[in-house]
Amino acid sequence: MPKTKQIAATVVAVSLIGSLAVASGVQAAGLSLGALVASQCNTCHGTDGEGAQSVPRLAGLDADEIFESMKAFASGEDTASIMDRVAKGYSDEQLHAVANYYSEQ
Ligand code: HEC
Repeated sequence: MPKTKQIAATVVAVSLIGSLAVASGVQAAGLSLGALVASQCNTCHGTDGEGAQSVPRLAGLDADEIFESMKAFASGEDTASIMDRVAKGYSDEQLHAVANYYSEQ
């Protein structure tokens, strides 16, 4: 095998092992996808989405409401000081997972 191909194959193998390790690490820690995404929201929205100062509470809101709200922020349909940028960083799967997570808090 030419050296560059060998290096490329090694890089692919190493990154595959890396992502498997991350995936099993998440499962080992018992974190669902929703909880994982929520850990990036809680810095502003408070522990378990209880809300903090001027940041609204998410805990106990309807899951569809949270999801639709995120889509509206991402599309610019809803104006926001910060959520327009935050909402663009997640896939629909991640948004459904985090919406379900907060609705159950
Ligand atoms: C940097 C701080 C910050 C982060 C991180 C953040 N939010 Fe927000 N969020 C806000 C603020 C502030 C508002 C009020 C709207 C605005 O001004 O952007 C808000 C509003 C919302 C609303 C509307 C709630 C309502 O009742 O109107 C939802 C839903 C929401 N955030 C979900 C999330 C989710 C889900 C995440 C994580 C993926 C997240 N936010 C991460 C600061 C943040």
